[in-house]
Amino acid sequence: MCGIIAYNGSDDAIPYLLDGIKNLEYRGYDSFGCALESDGGLTIKKDIGRIDDVINEYKLRDLSSKKAVFHTRWATHGGVEQKNAHPISDCTGRLAVAHNGIIENWTDLRDELSGHIIKSDTDTEVLAHIIENRLNAGDDLTSAVKFTFERINGSSSFVVIDTKTDNLVGVKKGSPLVLGLADKGNFISSDVPSFIKYTNKVVYLYDGDMVSVGKKDYEIVNLMGKDHTHDIATANLSSKDIDKGDYEHFMLKEIMEQPNLIKNLKDKEFKEVDEAAAVIRGASSVYIIGAGTSFHVARLGARVFRENGINAIPVQGHDLPSYKKVISDKDVFIIISQSGETADIINSMHIIKNNKKIGIINNEGSTLAKEVGIFIPVGAGPEKAVAATKTFTLSSFYIVLVAMAAVGKKDLAVNDINLLNVNLYNLFVPSVIDAVNAVAGKIKDLESIFLLGRDLDYVLALEGALKFKETTYIHAEAVDASTFKHGPLALISDKAYAISLVSEPLRTSMLSNLHEVKARRGNVIGISDTNSELFDMFIRTPEGGMFSFISQAIILQLLSYKTAVLKGIDMDHPRNLAKTVTVL
Ligand code: G6P
Repeated sequence: MCGIIAYNGSDDAIPYLLDGIKNLEYRGYDSFGCALESDGGLTIKKDIGRIDDVINEYKLRDLSSKKAVFHTRWATHGGVEQKNAHPISDCTGRLAVAHNGIIENWTDLRDELSGHIIKSDTDTEVLAHIIENRLNAGDDLTSAVKFTFERINGSSSFVVIDTKTDNLVGVKKGSPLVLGLADKGNFISSDVPSFIKYTNKVVYLYDGDMVSVGKKDYEIVNLMGKDHTHDIATANLSSKDIDKGDYEHFMLKEIMEQPNLIKNLKDKEFKEVDEAAAVIRGASSVYIIGAGTSFHVARLGARVFRENGINAIPVQGHDLPSYKKVISDKDVFIIISQSGETADIINSMHIIKNNKKIGIINNEGSTLAKEVGIFIPVGAGPEKAVAATKTFTLSSFYIVLVAMAAVGKKDLAVNDINLLNVNLYNLFVPSVIDAVNAVAGKIKDLESIFLLGRDLDYVLALEGALKFKETTYIHAEAVDASTFKHGPLALISDKAYAISLVSEPLRTSMLSNLHEVKARRGNVIGISDTNSELFDMFIRTPEGGMFSFISQAIILQLLSYKTAVLKGIDMDHPRNLAKTVTVL
């Protein structure tokens, strides 16, 4: 992971980049650093810890520079130590590199760097020294970077700042990198929201692109010999989309955006969904690929496909290679991803290079969005809290819509989303919020909880358990209630708490499973549209036809959010995690 933002222009770079790097914090936040050019020299400030703390500690607001690069780190190679924070300089301090990705052959390359002073344990440092060698041999910076790019293996995007070169030079491979073109200078960054306050003119880069960024101009060359056009696009985002507004946390803001996002689906035509449905009708099997929360969307979607007579298989991105020998050319692949940059998936794409691909992806300029034949934009806007909320809901809606459209039942799905749209306003009423708060108060000090459900509700239980792990650090285990008797029931006692999803058509069998829990004096928290004597605590969710599961998902999101708040956890930035995982 990691986030990079750099600026070269006639304005002071520091206010732009201090603001921009905060918007990249979702990519990793164990260390922060910056390299800035002033009076012909390079100043590097970096340390472990959260961005704001390092900014205050080193009084970075007092600095000024017209050419600088900032970096926020999620450690891969080299521990969380000051020396491993980026940017990382060469021996002389003439240049520095900020990097996002992994150099697979870095140990071999480092062994070739005898005579150099190696200061860190990172793979990144070899970049700085190989470039240094080439500059000393007489190359200009772009030639030195080209040479270096050709020597490294793996997915790596990086930006180089050199005090003896006017331009910044960046390379994209694997991890994202995009240009922002403003009146008084140019940005190069890991994503668009980091500079959207200053410009909405963007140029998306492709793998292998090397960009040389001047104060007024830029030049792109593809080092992998690919021929791409680089139009200047207008990013459809505003500052409002990337700020917390009046909310205390991004997670809450993103949860609360869901009713409006669902309302906005009302008058859509869903043309891409029709295209996808037509492709699926000619498919042998449908594979649905995702990771983390997006894998839960894949599982949910696969159930709906199968229930409608289409063979569908959910697959974790990293596991796709194991299907290599059974995949046929007539199989269609649906890729689910918020970021469109998840390495587990990107790394498996070569296996399905000849297959038709549909993407349900939130980040429009992303690598995966460019890779698929049919792109269905999730349209949730930027999601910054590490735990996915609104993108789960909207991606789930789209996968169900595609499945229904493929069997000629799109109108039924559109009708039900409109029903949910009306009923969702009953979800945020005081009685429900009070119930969520009461349950959060009850479970906040537990070491572990169960989440129970059957069929589709089990998939929601899996997603709910992931939310609890990510945001509350409570060990949360989802169990398919129909399999409870095959083992997990041994863990039930009066100390056990089971958050239980109860809905039609499996209400009766689910309640029967809950009897088994109650008989062992377990505590049952029911999430359902109807109360039951089996529930010790109850949170009511409104009806929404085939999309009723969306209300249940939102309640689980709110419950983990509220529990995290009571525990004093900064759930927007959970320990050890990052939102976009661009490493394997
Ligand atoms: C990371 C994030 C998860 C996310 C997963 C897949 O693990 O922490 O929240 O669900 O990546 O990300 P994607 O962007 O592909 O949906």
